[in-house]
This record gives sequence, structure tokens and C-alpha cells, in this order.
Amino acid sequence: MRESYLQYLRLDSNDSMVLFSCEIGTPPSLLYWGPVLGEAVSGEQIARLSLRQGMHGVADVALPMSLAMEAGLGHPMVQGLAAHRAGKDWGSLFRVGKVEAMPHGAKIVCRDEQTRLGLEYSIDLDPETGVLRIASTLTNYGATTLDLNELATACLELPQSMTDVVGFTGRWTQEFGRERIARTSGSYVRENRSGRTSHFSYPALLLATADTNESAGEVYGLHLAWSGNHRLRVDTLTDGRLVASLGALLFPGEIRLALGESYTSPEIVGAYSAHGFSALSQKFHQHVRTKLLRPEMRSKPRPVHYNTWEAVYFDHDTDRLKDLATKAAALGVERFVLDDGWFGARRNDLAGLGDWFVSDDVYPEGLGPLVDHVTGLGMEMGIWFEPEMVNPDSELYRAHPDWVLGAEGVDQIPFRTQYVLDISRPEVADYLFERIDAVLRDHDIRYIKWDMNRDLSHPGGVDGAVRAVAQVHALYALLDRVRSAHPQVEIESCSSGGARADMGVLAHSDRVWTSDSNDALDRQNIQRGASFFLPPEILGCHVGPAHCHVTGRRISMAMRAVTALTGHMGLELNLLTEREPDLVQLKSAIALHKAHRRLLHEGDIYRLDTAPHHLCSGVVARDKSEALFSFSYMWGDQHVLPGRLQFAGLNAERDYHLTLIWPEAWQAVKAPSLIEKLDLGGGGAVFSGAALMQAGMQLPHAQPETCLLFHLKAV
Ligand code: DGJ
Repeated sequence: MRESYLQYLRLDSNDSMVLFSCEIGTPPSLLYWGPVLGEAVSGEQIARLSLRQGMHGVADVALPMSLAMEAGLGHPMVQGLAAHRAGKDWGSLFRVGKVEAMPHGAKIVCRDEQTRLGLEYSIDLDPETGVLRIASTLTNYGATTLDLNELATACLELPQSMTDVVGFTGRWTQEFGRERIARTSGSYVRENRSGRTSHFSYPALLLATADTNESAGEVYGLHLAWSGNHRLRVDTLTDGRLVASLGALLFPGEIRLALGESYTSPEIVGAYSAHGFSALSQKFHQHVRTKLLRPEMRSKPRPVHYNTWEAVYFDHDTDRLKDLATKAAALGVERFVLDDGWFGARRNDLAGLGDWFVSDDVYPEGLGPLVDHVTGLGMEMGIWFEPEMVNPDSELYRAHPDWVLGAEGVDQIPFRTQYVLDISRPEVADYLFERIDAVLRDHDIRYIKWDMNRDLSHPGGVDGAVRAVAQVHALYALLDRVRSAHPQVEIESCSSGGARADMGVLAHSDRVWTSDSNDALDRQNIQRGASFFLPPEILGCHVGPAHCHVTGRRISMAMRAVTALTGHMGLELNLLTEREPDLVQLKSAIALHKAHRRLLHEGDIYRLDTAPHHLCSGVVARDKSEALFSFSYMWGDQHVLPGRLQFAGLNAERDYHLTLIWPEAWQAVKAPSLIEKLDLGGGGAVFSGAALMQAGMQLPHAQPETCLLFHLKAV
């Protein structure tokens, strides 16, 4: 906090700063967010430069903005807070009462005496990462119940020069798609009522200038750290101003506050970059790494996974699983994850969910022999749960049909033959904890794949009230309870692939399952989309079978392996049926991943802009001593040769030794290409960082579905 008289709250990071207006007795608002202005620039200067006039046809005075955009402001378009008491007390106007300093931030405490409500903003800007975090808490000080219909965590006025909105969308097996559109007047709104983070509306937005790309231009990134219903808005007001607001989306009657009760919104995690999208992602990655991930997990290399799902599905057999484990260990796998199908009557997806007891039918001697086999091979054991769900055909549902969420008088919507348990009920959470705890206590298990495979279509509890927000909090509490009882166990957040991969759940888990598509071509794009917010080490990236189950495509091992090795690498294919030469290649890819895992998992990301039929990105060590860049040929090119690869993020002053490290057996379509001429596949060649970045390297012609991996080491 730079200004001592708290009329303005100024927070600085290395390369960005924020300035809030928080004068006592006025509504708080965001005045400025962008590059660091000189020390001498006062909040007052910015405020004076922001003075606006009234106009004919609109109010005679310029209406102020506020962080809540509450009804009392009288704004004709945007409202970030909607609440009432039996139809009254809807017109709050919050005024700052005091500002309390916090590490790297402050709490702005506001109050509206008329409607007897309090609204507090907790704001901080991390000096190192430049990440801005805002949360808000609404408190009812009135004697009667307050119905809260909406509370955007914050409404942020951003520069009108941000003409483009980038939204993140998709579906099952096509997560993290980007949609870039030019702002128009009115509203850009994304709403999610699925009860989970969702495939179709990732809770994040970018606002950028029209010419912002990966390496240049201004961009604001806003992420809502929340694994439930959300509303993301970008409003272009009739007076030209731009307001972005993000918050949990509330169902009618869901949040009712009695005297003294509070509702806290999920946190907005934001960042500003003056140097394009990649620099923005680097900030988010550093945030996830330093603020969300547990330090002990950060310092441990991420073990290479083997996951049984696509190899065996529900067809569990201890001997076959042991054979798979043996084969996996021989390839260099370090963790074996037993997926769905080990418990109750779960022989297909029609029955058994909720009965978290090892199946006697499939495992007559229990899981012990398999776990011993896996650990005996030097691997860690992991296991799948889907705690929030129950099949109607299960012992649990027969005993407790009232434990599920629903809506009175409305049939359950069919969705993978399962219902959602109301885990906000203590007895339900206790049952689930007891079961998970027992399985973890009985076996040497170090990893949980925590799945969640349906929407909360009708999120009503047994009392008829909506439990969607409560369900998310209960999930976080259950994850924490498991974590504190078993701190050595890592938890993966999975939801039909990547439908629960937000920064909210990442505060309670250790990695995410990025997508159920193991199709390397789709994965290249999905992982690129996820990388806008999430660092590679938490993105589960698995090598799938040659014949992709989801798309039916056949993709070479060279392409599949390199696609997985740049994230948190794993395998998800039947090692007993894959071709031997492919397994030999896979083993090399795993060794390569391990050799570079530290760089991949700690470096800075640089996505490069390319023609649509190519994809290129790299990871550069933070001290710029080393880098890895992948260049993918997705489909055929009209030109004889692709353009040049202009590496990014290197030290222009240093020389780098450049080699091609994948594919192992690179063969030019027509030799010699530059690769042979410079012997990049052999001894390599040395170039200056400046030349590699500014002149760039001519790429060879390659067949579609090829990915070249280049290694650069400073000499
Ligand atoms: C959905 C997950 O995304 C898959 O990886 C797998 O675990 C299945 N569920 C199991 O039912």
C-alpha cells in the first residue's frame, strides 16, 4: 500500500500496478490497472484525469462506477449485486467505512446503513507474480432475512482499448477451446448452471486489444477460482465504458442471510500483461505454482503415470493388471493408477457407484496383491473414486435414497445412470470420508483420481432448498479432510476429463485431468488452451492407444508420445497389445520426459503464433539457460516449406547449442533438410539467442502429424 491517506489504494508489482478509489463515504472502484506508473503519480492525478460529464438523454451527472455496481448507483445497464428483503431493501449503495492494510493489499470495508448491509473487499496484488486477487463478503446486519440473487465478486472497469474478448469453451473431449470476438455494445455473458466448472464455459476471460497476440500487446486475464455455477460478463456501456464482472451464479433462494450471516464470493484471480498472452500465462502459472500447489508436491518430480482406464475399462482382472504394471514399470512408469471398476457391483457404468468397498467378485483376495505388486515394482499406487455420485443400482442408494440432490416433483435427468449425493449433509460427507479413509489406510496408496461425471441438474436438498454453492464448499472441505488425514496422498481433479480444472479446486488438489481425449492431435490444441491459465506440470497428458478410442483416428507413437511428454506425462493404453517398436519408442519418450521434466515443470511458457496448420510452443528456464520448443505439423501445407521458427524468451546475448531431440529417428522427406545440414539430430549447432529469436530457423518440410522437439542449451 503506497498512499498512507487511504483515499486511494495503490498496489505495485514488478511490472503492473492497481489503483482503487476508496475514499471514505464513497463507493469503491477500480481506477487504474496497468503498467507501473512513476512513484510520483498520485491516485488523485488518475482520478482527475478520469473526470466525466453528464449528457443529454442520460443522467445530468456522470454516474460513478463501483466494485459492486449495486442498484443504488442507478446505473441503467450493469448490476453486480441484486438482493432484497421480501421485495424491499433492494437499492443498496455501499460507501467505504474503512480500509485495513493486509500483506500486499487491503480490506475495503463498506456499509450501507439504509439497507443494513456490509460489503467487504479483500484485495491483494502479489509483488512477484503480479497476480491480483479479489474476494468479496456480503453481511446482513438487518433483523430480517436477506435474499441474495447475485453478487459478482467484483465489477472492474477496464480500458476501452480492450476491444477483444477471448472466451474459453468446449465440450467433453474438446475442452479449453478459445473464441475470440470483437466487443459490441451491450453484454457478453457466459453462464454456467451445470453445478461443476463445466466443459462449455471455463470460468475465465481475456480482454485484449485487437492486435494483441502471443508475444505483444496488452491483455487482462480474469479467472474465477470456483468449481460451480458462474456468470462471466463483459458489458460495454452506453457511455462507452467497459466493465468486466465475474461471480458465482446463484439460484433463486439459494443464499438467504439471517441477521449476522455472510456470503463470501469466490475469488477473482487476475493479471495484466503488456507483452501478449504468453506473458500473461506465465503470471498465472507462477500463481498456481507458488500460491496454490503444496510446496512439498512442488519440490517432488511429478511421477510418470500409467492409468488403466483405456486399457481395461471395467474388465478388471488382477493377473492382467499385474502384467500391465510389470510392463509399465519396465517402460519407466512411476505411478500406477487403478481407474473405475474396482468396487461394489461396478462392472459397468450402470451400478455400484457409492459402494466404496473392494469388490470380492473381482478381487477375491482384495486389492492387497495388486498394490504389493505395484509397489514391489518401485511404483506408487493410485486409485479412482467418484465420491459425489451414486448409482440408483447400489447398496448406498437403496439404504439412503434421500441422500441425493433433486427437485421436488421433477424426475431426475438421466446422466450416466447416476445421481448426485448432497455432500453438504454431514452424514453423507462422513460416510464418504470414512470409506476413502479406510481404503487409504488399508493400502499403500499415494494418489486419488477424484472424478465427477454429471451435472447437478436439479441441485435441491432434502429440505427443498438449492444446495449448489453448498455442494462446492462441501467438496472443498471433503478434499481438505482427506488431504489432512493423508497428506502424502496426491489428489487429481477429474470431471469427465477437464470439466473441473479451475483454480478453486486447485487449492485443494494437486493436478487435473485435462481431457478424456487422448487423441494427440486434439490434445495439442486442448493442452494449449489449458496452458493459458494452468502450468504444464498439473495437466495430466497421457499417451493413448494407436487407434484413438474417442476419435477413431490412428496416430503414430512419435506424435502421441511427444504430445504427452510436455505436460504431466502418463500412459493410458493397453501395453499388452501395442506394437513392440512403439513400446520401444515410448520408453525413449519417457526417458526424455524425465531428463527434461524439471525444465518443463518449472520453466516459463512461450506459445508462438503460427499458421493454423501448425502449433508451436516452448518452455524456457527462468534463468534462460535452457529451453525446449515443440513445433507440430497438424495438417498439410500449401507451401513447400513452413516458415521460420523464431524462438522466444531466450537471452539475446547468449549462445545456445541447438539440437533436435524428437522424433528419435527423424528422417527428412527429402534429405538433406536444414536438420541434416546442421546436424541438429546429431552433434547440433551453436547460434546466438538474438539470431534464433530475430532471424529464426528455417523449418524442414515434414509430414502432417509430426512434432519436432528442439532443445536449446546455453553455452
Ligand atoms: C471419466 C474420466 O474422465 C475418465 O478418465 C475415467 O476415469 C472415467 N470417468 C471412469 O468412469
